[in-house]
Amino acid sequence: MSAIIPSNIVMSGIRPTGMVHLGNYFGAIRNYVKMQDEFECYFMVADLHSLTTHPETAELKRNVRRVLAENIACGLDPNKATFYCQSHVYETGELYLYLNMLAYKGELEKTVTFKDKARQHPENINAGLLTYPVLQTADIIMHRASLVPVGKDQEQHLEMARNFVVRFNHRYGEIFPEPRAFNYNQELIKVPGLDGSGKMSKSENNMSTLYFADDNDTIKKKVMKALTDGGPTEMNSKKPDYIENIFALMKLVCKEEVIEKFESDFNNCTIRYGDLKKQLAEDMINFITPVREKTNDILANDAYLIEVMEKGAHKARESARKTMDLVRNAMGLNYF
Ligand code: TRP
Repeated sequence: MSAIIPSNIVMSGIRPTGMVHLGNYFGAIRNYVKMQDEFECYFMVADLHSLTTHPETAELKRNVRRVLAENIACGLDPNKATFYCQSHVYETGELYLYLNMLAYKGELEKTVTFKDKARQHPENINAGLLTYPVLQTADIIMHRASLVPVGKDQEQHLEMARNFVVRFNHRYGEIFPEPRAFNYNQELIKVPGLDGSGKMSKSENNMSTLYFADDNDTIKKKVMKALTDGGPTEMNSKKPDYIENIFALMKLVCKEEVIEKFESDFNNCTIRYGDLKKQLAEDMINFITPVREKTNDILANDAYLIEVMEKGAHKARESARKTMDLVRNAMGLNYF
């Protein structure tokens, strides 16, 4: 354990690959929106990380703007949180370099995400991919953050971040708090896909995922295609998984009375899944439409997006400069 007490600073990164879907919103963005009122928050578009797997940069400008616009449309407020692009904080490259000297090849090679990506792309196993968790650590500790709202898939990266922090503090002086995963009670929120299996994610099967960019017809088509059956034949029976999943999706966007009605229809075997899906489609459309429209308004206003990026870069770099002064002094890189 480090002697440094945890900070009340929140930091997280958002990959600019793919469009924002309902799983992203209920799993992450909604929490960011709540945290920005309660903590000092840094939310970052991880454009540099995307270079480890997507070296082609032609699409980056557009993808970065889209992810900024979609998150703002979902409620992330650049006036409350510091919302910035990773590549605008040049200090990150420096801190990443120092941390690389404290990261061992063996532990980096054992990282599950590295092994997965190396297997998927044997032709591009680059050093950036290997040191991905080091760059992530630099992002987090650049603001001396303790609280990192991320999903389970990032646990191992955070464990590595703690190791790098402990090594840094031990070698050069106690500067950084140990970062840890931080989430509100999320286990209770389930966002399954529409195909009856797994959770909603950016998957091959686009029909099972609802994106904020989907138009009303697409939403309706996707919801109406969700797997159902002829309905229960015995009173109060247990719901099959794919029906459970549809109810879980209803809980996200439908009124309580509506859910109760369909619950009781299910229990007394009078449920009509066609009606249920029509209702779900309508409520999904009502939920998604304002976000889609707001995203499009933001995307049409490039001056605003540039202002957001500049403001974010300014605030993030101010914090970065302070940290790097501490780091260079602690490391003895202050020759005059
Ligand atoms: N690795 C994270 C992901 O894949 C993105 C990320 C980059 C991040 N830097 C971060 C997350 C810093 C939390 C903190 O989603």
